[in-house]
Amino acid sequence: MKPFSVAYTSACHFGVIAAVHLPDDPAPVPDGVLGQLPEVERDHARTLGGYRQVSFVGGRLALHRAIRGLGRRAGPVLPGEGGQPQLPEGVAASISHKRTLAVALAARDTHGSVGVDLEDLGPARMGIADRVLVASERALVDQLPAQRQWTAVLLRFSLKEAIYKALYPYVNRYVGFEEAEVTPLRDCQADVALHLKEGEGPFLVEARYQWMDGHVMSTVRIRSGTPAPE
Ligand SMILES: CC(C)(COP(=O)(O)OP(=O)(O)OC[C@H]1O[C@@H](n2cnc3c(N)ncnc32)[C@H](O)[C@@H]1OP(=O)(O)O)[C@@H](O)C(=O)NCCC(=O)NCCS
Repeated sequence: MKPFSVAYTSACHFGVIAAVHLPDDPAPVPDGVLGQLPEVERDHARTLGGYRQVSFVGGRLALHRAIRGLGRRAGPVLPGEGGQPQLPEGVAASISHKRTLAVALAARDTHGSVGVDLEDLGPARMGIADRVLVASERALVDQLPAQRQWTAVLLRFSLKEAIYKALYPYVNRYVGFEEAEVTPLRDCQADVALHLKEGEGPFLVEARYQWMDGHVMSTVRIRSGTPAPE
């Protein structure tokens, strides 16, 4: 795969997803690649080193590609104080990167904010379960056969990170893993119950996930409101 080339751009339930191949190597990003970013983003990238520079650049390339998929263009998108991408008016978007792939999800913000998270399936790190899962989630995971427990933990971790990214524009604070309870369903959707300790909301949360080629990817859309009565 050519480093920083587009892996795919596709429509998804919440908007447009773009993915960019990353080099598995922390060498400085070549000027020809940096030149594809708006000048202010390029300058920011030059302040970063190693894999952080690589992932920032790949994430921004994916982000601009996804925003163009909406028929929009964005100027420089710099990180805010909480690390969130500071997006142009009218656009909701989110970024995630793992060692060899960066993804971005972009949507018009009329339906709320969005979050995306990508996780590598391995190696298993069951040690994160205590930090990530609330008691009800832990009980469900513990009932699974041992060989399925890691992916069950990882999926909940990924959904919660995507929830965090979509929630941040509304709450502007760190949200702990214990503030959301996620229940993956069989149709690649997930039920989400928020237990926000500062009482923000109510919010409508839609969450989806997909298993792909060594990764799981979660996408989330959040807007203010309560579910319509059935
Ligand atoms: C911020 C966090 C979610 C990033 O996840 P990660 O697995 O470390 O890294 P990813 O590659 O998936 O995502 C990184 C991107 O997240 C985005 N991001 C970082 N902070 C963010 C925030 N506060 N709000 C929205 N997006 C944010 C950025 O775009 C960043 O990429 P960039 O710096 O190149 O722009 C994670 O580090 C974290 O703090 N998690 C704990 C909080 C949490 O998930 N709580 C669960 C609540 S239910």
